[in-house]
Amino acid sequence: MDPSEEFALQRPHLPARVTVYEVGPRDGLQNEEEALSVDVRVEYVDRLTEAGLPAIEVGSFVSPKAIPQLADTGEVFARIHRASGTRYPALVPNLVGLERAMAAGVREIAVFTAASETFNRHNINAGVDESIERFRPVVQRAREEKIRVRGYVSTAFGCPYEGPVSPDAVREVVHKLLDLPVDEISIGDTIGVATPAGVYDVVETLYDSGVTRGVLALHFHDTRGTGLANVYAGLECGITTYDSSAGGLGGCPYAPGAAGNLATEDLIYLLEGLGIETGVSLRKVVDASRFLARAVGRRPPGRYLAAVWGTDDVIGGQQ
Ligand code: HMG
Ligand code: MG
Repeated sequence: MDPSEEFALQRPHLPARVTVYEVGPRDGLQNEEEALSVDVRVEYVDRLTEAGLPAIEVGSFVSPKAIPQLADTGEVFARIHRASGTRYPALVPNLVGLERAMAAGVREIAVFTAASETFNRHNINAGVDESIERFRPVVQRAREEKIRVRGYVSTAFGCPYEGPVSPDAVREVVHKLLDLPVDEISIGDTIGVATPAGVYDVVETLYDSGVTRGVLALHFHDTRGTGLANVYAGLECGITTYDSSAGGLGGCPYAPGAAGNLATEDLIYLLEGLGIETGVSLRKVVDASRFLARAVGRRPPGRYLAAVWGTDDVIGGQQ
């Protein structure tokens, strides 16, 4: 066969539309040395809303000793301008967190566990099964209140303490979360070690065990520069929700060596180039990142942001 024909036949069928789930105000800011003021956090979220993002994780209701940077999340929720087309989830680790979230008018929460025991103990002071039991009353109460629930599975591709993690370990915890039940599961590459082959392995294992693609989201940290390649692998698998952080800030204080999340600008640039709709204004995400850069006193690490940094242009993006 003519090689060009073979190439044409191999072009994959990719989704027409993708949900970009913005985690900058939570995953991004939890890893900053200094806590930002409530004023700055509110303006950051409002600018991300302006950009048309369909979901913005505003913060977390965890122990202020664990993550002092996000201690005032309730106050941030009280002051943001919510748009009807945007969801505003927050992380909740236990019933105390759920009560605080509900008092702040939160309509979507995320519980979070991991595919490896040691990371989970460092992060939330519980083993994996123990964390699932802790979430049971949280999810039950949330569902009574018609609050949507996402479940995170951290260290799905590797653990900073235990090394490689098997797809079977991911499958086990995913099914425990689905049994709670949660509405969506975000598969987290907490320390940014995944490559496309690992994405195929994990997603295939999940599909083979009956998980449907509509409940899955992918959450990549871009520590080793494989974030976008991993998204592309996810697209080939038909997954339509991707987590990212404006400017590429982020990391988990309990995951040594983790760098920022995949940058929202880089993700949108890739998706636009592939003709995949997001409904998000790349230019306005850049504006939000520029605002945050002034607040933190440095340019966040995203590649697209670096490319347009010294200019007024957003080259190649839709306005
Ligand atoms: P613990 O010490 O086992 O909990 O921590 P505890 O129930 O014994 O409580 C200890 C203290 O915290 C008590 O206060 C509680 O009142 C308080 P004290 O009596 O010492 O003054 N407390 C709370 N305060 C406010 N809100 C609460 C709350 N709960 C307890 N909800 C706990 C267990 C889970 C609370 C703690 O370990 C914790 O908060 N961990 C959160 C860690 C975290 O937020 N990590 C980052 C997010 S996960 C992530 O980034 C990964 C992700 O991005 C995906 C990926 O990349 O893989 C999602
Ligand atoms: Mg993360």
